Amino acid sequence: MSIRKITEYPEEVLAQIGKPVEKFDEELEKLCEDMFETMYDADGVGLAAPQIGLNLRLFVMDCEDIKLVAANPEIIASEGEQSSSEGCLSVGKVPAVVIRPAKATLRAQNLKGEWFEREAEGYAARCFLHETDHCDGKLFIDHLPKMRREMIITKFKKEKRWK
Ligand code: NI
Repeated sequence: MSIRKITEYPEEVLAQIGKPVEKFDEELEKLCEDMFETMYDADGVGLAAPQIGLNLRLFVMDCEDIKLVAANPEIIASEGEQSSSEGCLSVGKVPAVVIRPAKATLRAQNLKGEWFEREAEGYAARCFLHETDHCDGKLFIDHLPKMRREMIITKFKKEKRWK
């Protein structure tokens, strides 16, 4: 296992639509182990493949009581609304309030390539939505009004300079 370098805004891979995962082999398993390790090391609750520079529809998460690998994820249902603070390892964890559905159902493939569905609410639902967005080349800041988005980016760039 090894910790991978986390890609950060505005790296292009973060804005690309990921390619489908096609091979469910040992290599994928090892990649996911690295992704979990990278995520835990960064104190994150979710990490998508584009965040380590791979243009792939894949994420791992360990949020509340849900720990899973999701290949080729899609959100097949959502309802309600929640509004709370969200951050992203690729944007230096600078937080912003994002409005999201309160509940979401994820459909994805596990490491064996088997399809599964999982429903979540609250923080874990937010994580499903945030990570699935990454696979579609979308960042949480893309959900914000333009001014708010610019503010977060400016803050992120400033914090990065201080590091
Ligand atoms: Ni993120």
